[in-house]
Formats: sequence, structure tokens, C-alpha cells
Amino acid sequence: MALKDLFFLLMVSFSLGVDATVFTLQNRCRNTIWPGILTASGKPQLMDGGVQLRSGQAVNITAPKAWSGRFWGRRGCSFDSSGSGLCVTGDCGGKLKCDGAGGVPPASLAEFTLDSPEGDFYDVSLVDGYNMPVSIFPSGGSGQCKAVTCRSDLNRNCPSGLELRRNGKIVGCKSACMAFNKPQYCCTGDFNSPNKCQPTNYSKVFKASCPQAYSYAFDDSTSTFTCQGADYLIRFC
Ligand SMILES: *[C@@H]1O[C@H](CO)[C@@H](O)[C@H](O)[C@H]1NC(C)=O
Ligand SMILES: *[C@@H]1O[C@H](CO)[C@@H](O)[C@H](O)[C@H]1NC(C)=O
Repeated sequence: MALKDLFFLLMVSFSLGVDATVFTLQNRCRNTIWPGILTASGKPQLMDGGVQLRSGQAVNITAPKAWSGRFWGRRGCSFDSSGSGLCVTGDCGGKLKCDGAGGVPPASLAEFTLDSPEGDFYDVSLVDGYNMPVSIFPSGGSGQCKAVTCRSDLNRNCPSGLELRRNGKIVGCKSACMAFNKPQYCCTGDFNSPNKCQPTNYSKVFKASCPQAYSYAFDDSTSTFTCQGADYLIRFC
């Protein structure tokens, strides 16, 4: 190999190393969970969209520059050896590898848009409801880089009418939009702007439990966070 080719290769691998973002998914729950990963359109799916994590286990996932997408936890899954099955919450079409399919709400989300001109944007969202605690901890970045935590057990504090039950047990807490499908809860129709769509008695319960998380669609001012060039720990429970 010519020296200039070697130099070129070194430059390429160096810049790949600098540009890539590492997500660490960590399971602090008492039971196994199956995180789902959905890449926004046009970009590669990470880990084919799903992974199993036993209690206490973690996995590192490298995302390419400018990746955007979401992570959520699936619970109570059983998959056969071909990766087909079902999850009690967060299921993505009955597959271990979601491979482009989103999770069925209610599911707590960790959302990212990497490498925008202002840096990385990230948030925890309960707009699609809640199924388990999830927190984001940036490391090694510059800028504000705040940790975003949602540790409350909203399954215990779920407002009446929003509970998702399985065998009598509350396994998820639906958004008011999902439960009642009304414009004032979904921020649609006459309520489709930040001024018109205000917090409701339901979204306020979510906000009280997880003040840093999106509790309804236009909850941006207290729920969007930025950081530049960080790696991110996403902790479930
Ligand atoms: C993930 O990467 C971090 C930082 O390099 C390392 O300390 C940790 O052991 C890795 N974890 C796993 C599960 O590979
Ligand atoms: C929210 O308000 C509606 C309408 O006023 C009421 O029916 C419902 O019980 C309230 N829910 C909560 C959780 O306060």
C-alpha cells in the first residue's frame, strides 16, 4: 500500500471515530427488557431495530453522523428462535428486530436528532404514553448537556381512564390523546398550535411525575435539550 493511501485510510478512520456517537443502552429494571430502536426515514436501522437486555446488562451502539431516531423499552416479550413473538408493551409488529417498525403505544421514548447545526437535540417523551422509566445521560460533550430523567413509576400514578391493564396489572399509562382521541389532548384541529394546545389535567399528571419529559405535543420549552459531540447513556428503570 502506498504511503499516501495509508495516510488517507488513517484520516478516514480517525474522522469516523470522531463523528460517530455511541449510545449505551442499560437495563436497570428487575426483569429482562427488549429495547426497540427506530431510525428516522432514510437512515440505517441500528441493531436491526431491537435487542434483548437482561437485568443489569448494557450494550454499546454506534450511530453514524446525523443519525436521528428513538429508543423505547419493550416489556414482557417472548420470541421464538426466529425472533417472532409478542411483547406486552412497546411491541413492534411481533418481531425482536423492529427493523423500521415503531412501538405500539403506550411507550416512554428517548428521542435524538444528532449533529444539527446547533448540536445534538434529545428528549424523553411521554406524548405516546408511558410504560417504564427512561433517562438520558450525556457524557463527554460540550454545551448544556443536561441529564434528562424520568424515574417515576407512572404506572402506579396513572390517571383513571388511561391505564393499560394486562391480567389486572397496570403495565402502561396511555396518553389522553390515545385514550380519548380528542383535539384538545392531541393538539390537532382547532388546537394545532403551541398557543392553542395548553397543558390539560391529564398532561399535568405526566408533567408532575417527569418534569423534564414531554407531557403533550407542544411541551417543547421545558423538554428539549442540546449538547455537542457527546455520547449518551440511555437508562431504563
Ligand atoms: C461501552 O463503552 C464504554 C466506553 O468505551 C465502556 O466503558 C463500556 O464497558 C462499554 N460497555 C459495553 C457493554 O460494552
Ligand atoms: C380531567 O377533566 C375531565 C373533564 O373536566 C374530567 O372528566 C376528568 O375526570 C379529569 N381527569 C383528571 C385525571 O383529573
